[in-house]
Amino acid sequence: MTYAIATEEAPPVRTGEIRIHPQEDFEGMRAAGRLAAMCLDMLADHVRPGATTAELDDLAREFVLDHGALSATIGYRGYRHATCISLNHVICHGIPSDRVLKNGDIMNIDVTVIVDGWHGDTSRMYFAGEPKVKARRLVDTTYESLMAGVGAVKAGATLRDIGEAIQKVAEGKGFSVVRDFCGHGLGRVFHDAPNVVHYGSYRDRFVGVQRAPATELKPGMFFTIEPMINEGKPDVRMLKDGWTAVTRDKSLSAQFEHSIGVTEEGCEIFTQSPTGRERPPYQ
Ligand code: MF3
Ligand code: CO
Ligand code: CO
Repeated sequence: MTYAIATEEAPPVRTGEIRIHPQEDFEGMRAAGRLAAMCLDMLADHVRPGATTAELDDLAREFVLDHGALSATIGYRGYRHATCISLNHVICHGIPSDRVLKNGDIMNIDVTVIVDGWHGDTSRMYFAGEPKVKARRLVDTTYESLMAGVGAVKAGATLRDIGEAIQKVAEGKGFSVVRDFCGHGLGRVFHDAPNVVHYGSYRDRFVGVQRAPATELKPGMFFTIEPMINEGKPDVRMLKDGWTAVTRDKSLSAQFEHSIGVTEEGCEIFTQSPTGRERPPYQ
């Protein structure tokens, strides 16, 4: 892995290098992360049995535009929505639709906004009505795994430390870590280097042991951590729409995502909820 010093002149495209941002870039990420988090806060008041996921998406799109920001996902690789809404056994990239929420549904809502060119990317789980005990347990564990990953971030630690921390929490409760999707660098670019995998290592049936890269974390790196944790096996199946990823065994899946910036002592979470609505149930 190589690192590049991010400058005003650096083009907002994926170069394969990890950008190291100066202190003033944190300000841009704070504004973007805060707006994305406020959008998720707003949605907490609208997730209920009877609502459709398309209605939630409309609310998110209007909220982002009303705040003078852009949705990073509308027009991204042909995607047409301001959110991804991933229900029950959907792992990620669920497409908003006229599907009506039912009592007990759990869902991830993922939103990415662009404020002054900076990306704020975050997602949380939501409950429609009262979920089953095992669904709650999965959601709680997924949140705890994200925060364990965030807690492993500091200058001098590695990407592998993040993955190991997440995997330990998830597998400790008997759940599995999805390997086919990862967190990512972000900033002026939506999906940038490095890939942030959510495991330390695992044994692949065909190619043997896979280990997360031991890439060193440096102050000024910006990336997401967004573990997807399954109740059953980690295996993914893609639906024909080309976006929706589901668990192959149809077990429940959960995800939380923060955008963070590495500091000397730890990290700054750009997408913390301003109202404390970090995890459900929300008041
Ligand atoms: N926000 C997602 C992520 O965490 C990406 C969604 S891309 C979309 O990286 F096109 F599916 F919206
Ligand atoms: Co992301
Ligand atoms: Co996201």
